[in-house]
Amino acid sequence: MQFTVLTLFPEMIEQGFSTSITGRAMEKGLLSLRCVNIRDYASDRYGHVDDYPYGGGAGMVMQAPPIYRAYTAAAGEGKHPRLVYVTPQGRVFDQALAKELAKEEELFILCGHYEGVDERILEEIATDRISIGDYVLTGGELPALVIMDAVARMVPGVLSNEESGEDESFMNGLLEYPQYTRPEVFMGRLVPEILKSGHHANIARWRRHESLRRTKQVRPELLETAKLDPDDQKFLQSLEMEEI
Ligand code: ADE
Repeated sequence: MQFTVLTLFPEMIEQGFSTSITGRAMEKGLLSLRCVNIRDYASDRYGHVDDYPYGGGAGMVMQAPPIYRAYTAAAGEGKHPRLVYVTPQGRVFDQALAKELAKEEELFILCGHYEGVDERILEEIATDRISIGDYVLTGGELPALVIMDAVARMVPGVLSNEESGEDESFMNGLLEYPQYTRPEVFMGRLVPEILKSGHHANIARWRRHESLRRTKQVRPELLETAKLDPDDQKFLQSLEMEEI
């Protein structure tokens, strides 16, 4: 899968993506990254890419022409690849959307800065507008990296153990169960006995229950859409009994 990122801070994207699992996947040729510095397509020799907003108000707005030139240089004339504009005004990113984007062979991401970008370039090239959550960051680079990371790990071969993508938080609509490793005792806290029992069915059931417990505690709304079997329902009921 190829990512193309249109940005004013390519080094931020390159460094972030070249680290750890995504970096290893690039070395293996499973992922590739191309960063296009919008400033290289500025309208003047001073590298200006922003201007005052029509109608007044605080801050500066990124101009359409440099972004358009950066885009056509990367996409090719007449080509219209899927392009995500990262913005707090977008659809909120989640695992389902990551999965959908991972089906693309090529994904463009446009990172904004200042007070935003000229609406007309978005109308022209953006196929998606995505927010990573209800808070405002100084620019689109961190959201772009968040989206790229979540999408990249869905690409076959990127995770060494293909299963580890399946068992986790949100894959089954619940939060993940707690994990433990050595030592067996840490500051007086013991590893739950059942995890040392070697009884796989009991361990799986215990983990499922802990997932349900956590989800109910922290993200109860997820239980409304999660697939729950009669044992799950019974366990959730028993939690309610505990509360009473
Ligand atoms: N740019 C600034 N804040 C953002 C957010 N929360 N999501 C996506 N892009 C952003």
